[in-house]
Amino acid sequence: MREVIKIEGGHRLNGTLRVSGAKNATVALIPASVLATKPVRLVGIPDISDVVSLKEILQYMDIEVQTPFEDEIYIDPSNMHNKPLVIDAVSKLRASYYFMGALLGKYREVTIKMPGGCYLGPRPIDLHLKGFEALGAKIKYENENYIIKADRLVGSRIYLDIASVGATINIIMAAVHAEGRTTIENAAREPEIIDVITLLNKMGAQIRGAGTSVITIDGVETLGGCFHEIIPDRIEAGTFTILAAAMADHVRIENVIPYHIDSLISKLKEANVNIDAKIDSIDIYSSPRLQAVDLITKPYPGFATDLQAPLTSLLTQAEGVSEIVETIYPERFKHCEQLSYMGANILVTIPKASIRGRTPLHGASVRATDLRCGASLVVAGVIADGITTIDDIYHIDRGYENLDNKLRSIGARIWREKVD
Ligand code: EPU
Repeated sequence: MREVIKIEGGHRLNGTLRVSGAKNATVALIPASVLATKPVRLVGIPDISDVVSLKEILQYMDIEVQTPFEDEIYIDPSNMHNKPLVIDAVSKLRASYYFMGALLGKYREVTIKMPGGCYLGPRPIDLHLKGFEALGAKIKYENENYIIKADRLVGSRIYLDIASVGATINIIMAAVHAEGRTTIENAAREPEIIDVITLLNKMGAQIRGAGTSVITIDGVETLGGCFHEIIPDRIEAGTFTILAAAMADHVRIENVIPYHIDSLISKLKEANVNIDAKIDSIDIYSSPRLQAVDLITKPYPGFATDLQAPLTSLLTQAEGVSEIVETIYPERFKHCEQLSYMGANILVTIPKASIRGRTPLHGASVRATDLRCGASLVVAGVIADGITTIDDIYHIDRGYENLDNKLRSIGARIWREKVD
């Protein structure tokens, strides 16, 4: 038996949605916490299955994990052991690769199997590995496991060919105990990276340049515990904003940093969406005549690749042809085929998709091929006439907390059913 999500579309949305803590920050903050020698308390933890997998990995390493409140996690690594991470939980998410940097930094040694996560086309980790090597590590790949070891880690100047989120965070974690100074040039500037640096600095690290493309890490001997509140999830906030742009009379989104989704807000305004961003909330009102827009995904602060799929669903309702160029993951268009089963008219010529609108969408049986494809199908299902059935929803549960409950609270008809 597995679960599917069903949506009866066409109902207007009204009410308030609260955004949870950021998935892509959380999945880095939890591995970063193992660098501490004392307990770390993280609040604003989203209730998603990636967190369940990460807890499993922590417990496997004899780290004490408690959840005193539903959105809180207490991590005590005082008695942890650096075991080879070859358990299944590692393959359930991409972000398990953050244990590479964290364990290499702490123990000078890590064995870990290939991380999993969404298939978005090729997702190499060569820049992470080159960064570790620049600090003095030697890397072997044997029996599908990475074995990364260093006698000493020594600070170095590292230029990233691509401003990679994962490589930036991983190299920072490997460098926090390195001798001397590490400088990362062309570092990624995503808000989630700032959040990780904030946590590490609270623990006693000496990292500067957060949010800029040059990050400097001065190695320290030891890191203590701390308390940290996770930033709101800008991709969940963006997904809700897109959904509201399609079907709201009036929806308010709370616990959001609108500045983090400036590029989306600008695009939506260009598409004629009636949207009003305040300091920590966004109001979206009925937007009857949507216009086609073109966009190019870029590293932050450019348009986020993670919002490309949900926006595609909205653009099926815009007048004219919208062109999307995907520069981060050029093959990240699996949602387009699924949307075509619902009536969308989209021509994909990698790395571009042309969406011809406005096309009525109708309910169909579709499949979440990855997390954000799942989000785009939910948006489409809420717009469509009739009933949409979404399969493979474990992808959605990896990254969206209580999505169906949250959407029901603003009037969407969405529920789960067990199927054989
Ligand atoms: N890249 C390389 N070599 C590397 C690392 C990256 O060529 O060693 C390339 C990638 O193939 C890609 C580009 O660089 O073309 C950017 O990749 P990046 O490393 O920034 O992505 P990531 O760290 O693997 C994170 C998020 C993704 C999000 C991207 C881009 C996490 C756990 N994942 O991935 O989130 O799409 O940054 O913003 O933080 C999602 O949430 O659905 C998701 C996929």
